[in-house]
Amino acid sequence: MQFHHHVIPPLAASGKVAVTEPELRSWGEQLGRAVTAPLAIAISGEVGAGKTTLAQAICRGAGVRDFVTSPTFALVQRYDGPRFPVYHIDLYRLDSARDLVNLGWDDVLRDDALVLIEWPERADDHLPAGALHIELEHHPSDPTKRLLLAG
Ligand SMILES: Nc1ncnc2c1ncn2[C@@H]1O[C@H](COP(=O)(O)OP(=O)(O)OP(=O)(O)O)[C@@H](O)[C@H]1O
Ligand SMILES: [Mg+2]
Repeated sequence: MQFHHHVIPPLAASGKVAVTEPELRSWGEQLGRAVTAPLAIAISGEVGAGKTTLAQAICRGAGVRDFVTSPTFALVQRYDGPRFPVYHIDLYRLDSARDLVNLGWDDVLRDDALVLIEWPERADDHLPAGALHIELEHHPSDPTKRLLLAG
């Protein structure tokens, strides 16, 4: 996996930006349109910060037509996109990074795919070195906004 900093749409290229949900979706769609596989995108943030919302938007931008639900129970969802497969992985329920092997982690990362990872901290040092890191935070005063940090 390689770095793809040049594909980050300018809105969040540096520092934290406050975004509404439509702004976050639109940014995610742009990102999904711009990326090429293989690429892992680690999406960090507390419960309800908008990780799945962003993953859905990136999937849509990448051309995935299926509705992307939260993969919390399946942990791994694979979608066929027109350019490359897209994996949506939610590691919230992963007890230990050692359990990644049971998810087929190595096969996922070997696939020529876009891999979107919620709760990437659960993977410890098993994240690919070139992963793109995105963080979402609740806004301190505006519940309709989130703080977005990318790159
Ligand atoms: N600016 C915003 N950006 C994203 N989501 C927002 C925003 N404002 C409000 N929301 C709402 O916050 C919720 C975010 O939920 P989402 O499932 O995307 O979070 P999550 O980070 O994936 O949570 P979890 O850790 O439970 O998986 C949605 O209900 C969404 O409508
Ligand atoms: Mg989620």
